[in-house]
Amino acid sequence: MWKSLLTGLVLSTSTLVAQEQQPLQIDLANLKDEIAPTMWGVFFEDINLGADGGIYAELIKNRSFEFYKPLMGWKTIGTLKQEGGFRIINRGLQAERNPRFLRVEVKNAGAGAIGLENEGFRGMGLKQNLRYDFSTWYRLEGKPITLQLELLNEQEQVVGTTKLQLTASDEWQKVEASLLSSATVPKGKFRCWMEGDGQLDLDMISLFPSDTWKGRKGGLRADMVQKLADLKPGFIRFPGGCIVEGHELSTRYQWKKTVGPLEERQVIINRWNTEFAHRSAPDYFQSFGLGFFEYFQLAEDLGSEPLPILNCGMACQFNTGELVPLDQLDEYVQDALDLIEFANGDVSTKWGKLRADMGHPAPFNLKYLGVGNENWGPQYVERLQVFTKALKARYPDIQLISSAGPFSNGPLFDYLDKELRAMKADLIDEHYYRKPEWFLGNANRYDNYDRKGPKIFAGEYASHVEGISNGLVRNNWLAALSEAAFMTGLERNADIVRMASYAPLFSHLEGWQWTPDLIWVDNLNSYGTPSYYVQQLFSTNRGTHLVKALQAGKPLAGQDSLYVSAVWDDAKKELVLKMVNAGDVAVELPLQLKGKKPGKGTIQAMQLQADSLQAANSISAPRQVAPQVSSLPLPKKAWKANLPARTLTVWRIPMK
Ligand code: AHR
Repeated sequence: MWKSLLTGLVLSTSTLVAQEQQPLQIDLANLKDEIAPTMWGVFFEDINLGADGGIYAELIKNRSFEFYKPLMGWKTIGTLKQEGGFRIINRGLQAERNPRFLRVEVKNAGAGAIGLENEGFRGMGLKQNLRYDFSTWYRLEGKPITLQLELLNEQEQVVGTTKLQLTASDEWQKVEASLLSSATVPKGKFRCWMEGDGQLDLDMISLFPSDTWKGRKGGLRADMVQKLADLKPGFIRFPGGCIVEGHELSTRYQWKKTVGPLEERQVIINRWNTEFAHRSAPDYFQSFGLGFFEYFQLAEDLGSEPLPILNCGMACQFNTGELVPLDQLDEYVQDALDLIEFANGDVSTKWGKLRADMGHPAPFNLKYLGVGNENWGPQYVERLQVFTKALKARYPDIQLISSAGPFSNGPLFDYLDKELRAMKADLIDEHYYRKPEWFLGNANRYDNYDRKGPKIFAGEYASHVEGISNGLVRNNWLAALSEAAFMTGLERNADIVRMASYAPLFSHLEGWQWTPDLIWVDNLNSYGTPSYYVQQLFSTNRGTHLVKALQAGKPLAGQDSLYVSAVWDDAKKELVLKMVNAGDVAVELPLQLKGKKPGKGTIQAMQLQADSLQAANSISAPRQVAPQVSSLPLPKKAWKANLPARTLTVWRIPMK
């Protein structure tokens, strides 16, 4: 029946007659299986300008001149610029992690004689009356130099300005200044004139909005973090994704190079820079301003379990597939051991001290660690065994996540599934980027999984609607509805499915490589897709215990296009029903409650629906598909849920 969903796209639900159903029997007498608080989480990767150019609020692109082309993002300006006024100096091993800086010969320069402009990532979003914090590292030989700092709008008019005096200094020093923007500008830029006479060295030229998340200097974009906070995620997986593996081993994610002082975090190319020829992003690098400390801090802010994934000694098998020989894995294993010390160790330990020096003496209480992302084959198993042995010997309580590879089934999946079960893996990370039909047809995927074997982490999934060339509208209601149907199956099996996360998380409207994505942003705004609201409805209505809900002795997992999961919220004493009608006919579903009686008050009903399966949200219509909330009276006798066609309905029912 769900096949009709894919053909009849724009039917009006109100004109169709409701279909009668056999009752759904909801058994509240027997609440034994607990749902993990980690059940619904988020997956973060620096893809689609997710971190640099996205949630990491730095506005200057290529602040330390370390991009492959050192002046990418920058423009030299002024009448003196032609005379060799700008040079890139490379300090080599003297500053291995940040070798380059910019040398400017400022020769008796007056206003407009020599300067620099930075274009931002896709322009810079500026807000009226907001303070912008500038900083730079400098050295100066010669007379004092005045920096004239300017914020510009699209017409190159100055909308904010200030001056900063630099005096001679042999040592590198950091200086700061603030500018106020007089206008809101979606695609502004930054300019810096230099006036005076001397040889000026510049590095780490930085500009941040002051309205970051929690007002942290050099922090994260508040609107984007708020979108995550509104999901109340049970965990945050970071830093990816394929970015963990790297195109080759030299560009793998190395957490130790992402902590400590910003100017010592080594910039590397982002693997998504070159991954897709049709969406290439030559200016996509990783500054690691959002590094492992900041990820842990974010997890803490959100009340989520931190879930880092580390490279297991294999580069991405879709790219080079480079392998670290088994007898040379020590450095990789040590990175994993040291990460646990960084997160949880006492401040007297080497890595615990670094955490404390960065401002967090208390442990981050890491409980989960992923070894490898989407790796497959015997080469993965061999490496995983080495990691598992070392990690379990030292930290037996840390739950290890192992990869089931990139595919939801097939020979690679079957091989790993068998091996990981034989290894008694803690949690297996399964990924499914599939069509809506697959999601609708697989809501019972876990019904018959081995209850005694490893637990499941549905670590990356998204419904991919095909035949839509414009990436921005692939996140339509059809995709979201099919995910909701599938998620009832995840929830119904929450005794073994302990974690689940949609992927990828963020995407910049002008900087994406991969679609669909959960949250879209431009330089100033962000909006949730229909899939975002599906995630939110599940995540903010998670329960504490599983409830059996059966129709004619079976869970509703696609019969007549219906999908249902039921949970108990012990804190609120509420029964929570998630009901998907993926068909094009409205349904009346009789409900029979057993084991508890309805309490006082009303049913809180939340519904997601759209007139068309192609409906999508956008910057100008961010809530076209968003939950509608209403209250329904508690029925005295005949309980029926009216489920309009193509809807996700969530009911919270107070019980005695
Ligand atoms: O989510 C995008 C990519 O999909 C991830 O980086 C990778 O793990 C998967 O193939």
